[in-house]
Amino acid sequence: MSEQPRRDVVSYARRSSRMNSSQQKAWDRCHDGLVIDVPKGHRDTSIAAGASVVWDDEFGRSAPLIVEIGSGNGESLVPMAAQLPECNVVAFEVYRPAVAGTLAKMSRQEVHNIRLVVADGMEGLSQLFGPSTVQELWVLFADPWHKSRHHKRRLITPAAGELIASRLAPGGLLRLATDWQEYGEWMRVSLDGNQSLVNEYLDEGGWAPRDADRPVTKYERRGLAAGRQVWDLRYRRRD
Ligand SMILES: C[S@@+](CC[C@H](N)C(=O)[O-])C[C@H]1O[C@@H](n2cnc3c(N)ncnc32)[C@H](O)[C@@H]1O
Repeated sequence: MSEQPRRDVVSYARRSSRMNSSQQKAWDRCHDGLVIDVPKGHRDTSIAAGASVVWDDEFGRSAPLIVEIGSGNGESLVPMAAQLPECNVVAFEVYRPAVAGTLAKMSRQEVHNIRLVVADGMEGLSQLFGPSTVQELWVLFADPWHKSRHHKRRLITPAAGELIASRLAPGGLLRLATDWQEYGEWMRVSLDGNQSLVNEYLDEGGWAPRDADRPVTKYERRGLAAGRQVWDLRYRRRD
């Protein structure tokens, strides 16, 4: 009997990976050395078991590691990394044209402390980082998957919280933002009970103030224009 094809629940929508000509040019000009090739697993966005990356070698230096999952076209990633030249920033994005757009921004803004991986960021976090090695993790405007039948696709879950807590260094920071209140509350339900993470603003109602260093991206603008508010969260890994 033939095997059933695997059906994974993924946190992103499937989109064409075709690039327009400026994205293709940016990719051709810049990807070498900045987009890290990782052996693929059973999906083209998954990572093969046993894959590994020596981040110090990829950056040519040893420095505190920051990870972003779902960096989109780098609208927040590039300026935020530029403000942290002392850190090595690794960004995961499944959509290749968005990674090409990020490369173009890095080149224009002369930001050199970012490496990109075109793969599922939760798999990347699990497989390419050792326990307690990540100083900060950013998940900004993750797809809210607001219909209840799609909630299973949400990136932030209690299990993701466990993984994130295991990869953050003691004292390390998880930063989240969403323009979808119900997803913000879902994140709170997923993370507030995690024994290794502390909601830094629990005494003030649990929501963090908006970070001044986080640029307003198209997702934030779109949420505000639709009359929504933006919800920030900050969790610190216990020592
Ligand atoms: C709504 S966009 C936000 C982009 C960016 N953070 C910003 O604020 O401009 C969410 C992005 O996350 C990406 N994404 C979703 N799930 C992912 C995953 N598991 N790993 C890597 N990227 C993911 C999507 O392809 C999309 O580009």
